[in-house]
Amino acid sequence: MTHPGLNSGAPRPDAAAKAMGRARYCADVQLTGMLHGVIVPSPVSSGILSELDVSAAEAAPGVVAVLTASNLPGNNRIGLIFDDQPLLVTDRVRMAGDRIALIAATTPEAAQRAARLVKFIVDPLPGVHDVRRALDEKSPLVQEQGNLLKEFFVKRGAPQTCRDADIVLEDEFVIGGQEHAYLETQGTVAEPQPDGTWVLHSTTQCPFYIRGRVARFLGLPISAVRVRQTVTGGGFGGKEDYPDEPAMCAVALAKVTGRPVSLILPRGQDMQMSTKRHAMVVRHKLYANLDGRIRGVEIQVLVDAGAYGGLSTVVAERANISSVGPYDIEHVSVLTQVIYTNNLFGGPYRGFGAPQVAAAHEAQMDRLARTVGLDPFEIRRLNGVSAKHPEFTSGETLAQAHLYGQLLDRLEAESGWKREKAAIAASRDADPDVCEGIGLATIIYGVNLHWGGSRLDRGGAYVLIQADGTVNVAVGITEMGQGALAAMRTICAAALGIDETRVQITEVDTALVPDSGPTVASRATVSGGNAVVDAARQLNERLLPLAAGKLGRPGIDGVVCKGGVYSHPEAAGTVTFEEIVALLYGRRQNPGALGWFSAPDRVYDPATGQGSAYAFYTFGGHVVRVRVDRATGQVTVREVTAAHDVGRVIHGLSAEGQVHGGVVQGLGWALTEELKLDGGHLKNPGFTDYLIPTSMDIPEKINIIFLEEPEPQGPFGAKGLGEPTFISVGAATLNAVAHALGREVSCLPLTPERVVQLTRPEPEERP
Ligand code: MTE
Repeated sequence: MTHPGLNSGAPRPDAAAKAMGRARYCADVQLTGMLHGVIVPSPVSSGILSELDVSAAEAAPGVVAVLTASNLPGNNRIGLIFDDQPLLVTDRVRMAGDRIALIAATTPEAAQRAARLVKFIVDPLPGVHDVRRALDEKSPLVQEQGNLLKEFFVKRGAPQTCRDADIVLEDEFVIGGQEHAYLETQGTVAEPQPDGTWVLHSTTQCPFYIRGRVARFLGLPISAVRVRQTVTGGGFGGKEDYPDEPAMCAVALAKVTGRPVSLILPRGQDMQMSTKRHAMVVRHKLYANLDGRIRGVEIQVLVDAGAYGGLSTVVAERANISSVGPYDIEHVSVLTQVIYTNNLFGGPYRGFGAPQVAAAHEAQMDRLARTVGLDPFEIRRLNGVSAKHPEFTSGETLAQAHLYGQLLDRLEAESGWKREKAAIAASRDADPDVCEGIGLATIIYGVNLHWGGSRLDRGGAYVLIQADGTVNVAVGITEMGQGALAAMRTICAAALGIDETRVQITEVDTALVPDSGPTVASRATVSGGNAVVDAARQLNERLLPLAAGKLGRPGIDGVVCKGGVYSHPEAAGTVTFEEIVALLYGRRQNPGALGWFSAPDRVYDPATGQGSAYAFYTFGGHVVRVRVDRATGQVTVREVTAAHDVGRVIHGLSAEGQVHGGVVQGLGWALTEELKLDGGHLKNPGFTDYLIPTSMDIPEKINIIFLEEPEPQGPFGAKGLGEPTFISVGAATLNAVAHALGREVSCLPLTPERVVQLTRPEPEERP
């Protein structure tokens, strides 16, 4: 580990249990009398459910309940933002994976056997499978009100006045979706309580969402539903809103049977039904002068939402504002359209729409560099935000705009960019079958919720000091592998001045901590961490006067606690944290505190995309070095350099782990992960055919640069890191492959088949 950060080096609190196989995941929850639930899905993506007969399934051995839309014990309208989605199909089928029936049985096998006995017919209807055609007048309607769900805009300056620019670069980028590929599939164990309330054990990154939607489904008050997050084996955005759906299925079955129900999706179903990174088409026009200075951009982003709104509009809101990148451009027009299709269900995924649009804007930056004969770093320096030009796409002035230039400088130096480029140029024609390339991409990212969701940008933490001087912490943000618990523990220990090993912290229980909004947008460190700092501040207000008294000081000025020992520069002795805690308990003072954080209010105009879109931002960038085999189309990534403006590293090992994970996941999206659809039906719903990177595909070297200029709004100066580690990887890989092949590239993923096509003479065959 090269970046220790604020952390003392103590291992992550969740490390041992996970590494030793002792952690209890949702599928490990076993309750007395528990039944097993399964979903019967539609294989057809567009049609009418004309026949449904569940009698054979009901009569099957071990079956306790079968539910369809006609006997569902809850509100079948489950749309999260838009009222466009049923839990169970009533008549219209809109996506492959729509739920026809639910079954609860005494064993998982009995439930699966019964599922095969449900007889139903879905009469196919013409579907919409190309987002580019979905808004045509003759296109079939996925939802009765039309296929356009919502539009977002950036309107800045007058881009139409740039159309006479010396340089006009125009292209359509076709960017693929992505499966979250979390280790642990979606699921919930629903446990009805004797008093009519509910306890849910769920794998989730947003337990408060589940609680709210299940309460609404059952018509119960929020307080009657308690969600306990089980150890979560990866979320990556896929466990933001989607877990609510299997949770409601499990609850429905538990309600009619009066018994606990465990419903865990098999991998194939999970891949077909659950949300995916949105496939997008980005139409990008860039206007520039011959010196490389960009005059304006006109961008249209088509977001393939699938059949239901879900959180697609929230993702699109971020894609919209991210589609110009970290550049200071006077004239900008962005139109982002969220469009219904009968394809896979689009949803949140690490980066929230930013990686797709980054692929387009960063490819355009490189094309501009080539057109005017500048290096990719130079073109970004020329057009990037800076202390002199701190205005971003949304018109706001960035407080730390100067960091973008610093990030470029370090990325260029530490990736050995000039040396590598020269080496590639020198070996250009040495081997006709192999070509090498290097690519750069940079991004700006708002590390919190967009203005549109800012009402949820809050966080709570309860810090309780026990009588022996150990501490329990309960936070409302979730751990899903990224190291949030470790970061919270480090922050708590640093804020109280004690050793981390004294602090116990576990997954969220919604009955014990306030609704802290979703754990998304890389906001956990800031929102949870600030709440912990606030709780520690309140506790210190009680502890420090006691310590001052013991040290013989008249007031708390200069009294500090470090490593669990209070001292003052002018006091002869010291006093331990335990002693002061004993005093606190002896005086019957409150040993607990509820800390709170809420993001500042902001002003933003959604009609123009101008204003304060996010509370603050981070910059990031990647340099990717590739080798391309022309004959097989295989792209081997040799080295990646990642640079992130993190404010302050909190937990060094977790931060480095995030960079490694983001890079590898980004390379998977860029190179091998292809969702192969046949009329909305996923043809590769498993890891045999849907290829995520393995340990064999990890680049030989991943270099990490952390820029540490404290963010005033962050706990100990920290920003967030989880998503930026991913966002520019795809774009940099695209640019590296373009560099290697010596031609323009406008699509992702760059699977071997596509790369082979690209090695053929233009025109490029579009996917
Ligand atoms: N890392 C792991 N190991 N597992 C995950 O599920 N989710 C990502 C990222 N890194 C994820 C992860 C996503 S989508 C987000 S928003 C951030 O972590 C959330 O955590 P943070 O706010 O602590 O960065």
